[in-house]
Amino acid sequence: MDTINILIIGSGGREHALAWKMSQSKRVSQLFACPGNAGTAKLCKNVAIPPTDFEALAAFCIDNNIQMIVVGSEETLVKGIKDFFAAHPLTYHLAVIGPDQQGAQLEGSKDFAKNFMVKYQIPTAGYKSFHKSALPQALQYIQTHPLPIVIKADGLAAGKGVVIAQTYQEAQKTLQEMLEEAKFGEASDTVVIEEFLEGIEMSAFVLCDGKNYLMLPTAKDYKRIGEGDTGLNTGGMGAVSPVPFADALLMQKVEERIVKPTLQGLATEKIDYRGFIFIGLMCVAGEPYVIEYNVRLGDPETEAILPRIHTDWVTLMEAVAQQKLDTIQLEVSDDYAATLFLVSGGYPEAFERHKKIEGLDQIQETFVFHAGTTQDSAGQIITQGGRVIAITALAPTLQQALQQANHSASLINFEKKYFRKDIGYDLFPFLK
Ligand code: AMP
Ligand code: GLY
Repeated sequence: MDTINILIIGSGGREHALAWKMSQSKRVSQLFACPGNAGTAKLCKNVAIPPTDFEALAAFCIDNNIQMIVVGSEETLVKGIKDFFAAHPLTYHLAVIGPDQQGAQLEGSKDFAKNFMVKYQIPTAGYKSFHKSALPQALQYIQTHPLPIVIKADGLAAGKGVVIAQTYQEAQKTLQEMLEEAKFGEASDTVVIEEFLEGIEMSAFVLCDGKNYLMLPTAKDYKRIGEGDTGLNTGGMGAVSPVPFADALLMQKVEERIVKPTLQGLATEKIDYRGFIFIGLMCVAGEPYVIEYNVRLGDPETEAILPRIHTDWVTLMEAVAQQKLDTIQLEVSDDYAATLFLVSGGYPEAFERHKKIEGLDQIQETFVFHAGTTQDSAGQIITQGGRVIAITALAPTLQQALQQANHSASLINFEKKYFRKDIGYDLFPFLK
């Protein structure tokens, strides 16, 4: 059997989970992670190249005979890694899993995504976009808009670009900060002002090869820092998979009304999309609406989803590159996965780094995915980021999975460690 060298781009729990999953494949010769973390270092060779330095990445891939790149993070896709590699005489043949720059606009520009959804009649919140040259019109527009008002920076803003204004004053201030004071730089040159949808959120994941698609397991992510979904937004404090309320009827609506028209729309726009589409959904009285598209897998959703998938991940990625997803039958465990993120005290605001992480050797029967970790010169694993470690437990019931994940989360320690103990409990009323 031919084996290949694979480069994973990113440094989060998602990338450690991808590395773990791909390290089980017989199709792999060597794995590399750029830049990776202390967890990927155990399975891959970590590569210290900035993930948007495409020249340096191409040179590295040529030197190391890399045949496939699995891109974890959106910035690399939005900046056009796929286009760069496709245009390079020595890397055009590499399988880059992820969309090209145009396809990545689904995440890179909220204005593009909203226009796309309207054009292809995909259910989403009503909206209007305003460029910074139209600040007076934007201010006037909100005066007759019902509260709350959702205001989104058009471009990538590291998850911080969405404000749900509860008052007209807050909406006004947000518009001024984004359009006038360039709060997110060019990313807020344009804003989308959107209707507020009241419902319950979940995420659907589609893997597509430009011709065929597969639905990956569903997940629910918990974005707020505080228990009871309070406080500031984070990258994600935990996840559960599958989503108990995502029954066959809801998923049929998601596929018919959202997934198929999205893929048809991409084909009509001549976008050859080979990669993941992560669809953030709001379910309003049983009807799904798209809150956002992302062009890569979620973090921490990946840490919850991958342990449930039995299918060989490298074979799956090759099928994406070769447009052979129709030959794959995805095998998914019926178990529940519960993922909890251990974070540095203070996150998502200022936090301290370089705290010694203890107890990792105590963990049994749960997965430990590193995110913001590194090794000091003595080889000790220490904290490096806000989100430090994701713990995933798999069990036949959600309750058991949550109990196991909480138990493991209590065994790992570092100074000022924090994690949410309420994740997943809101879903109990939906369990049959
Ligand atoms: P995003 O960064 O697009 O994922 O948005 C962050 C969060 O804002 C989402 O997870 C939702 O909870 C919330 N949100 C975004 N758009 C809307 C909307 N139109 N109605 C209600 N909540 C929204
Ligand atoms: N967990 C949300 C994201 O990956 O964007």
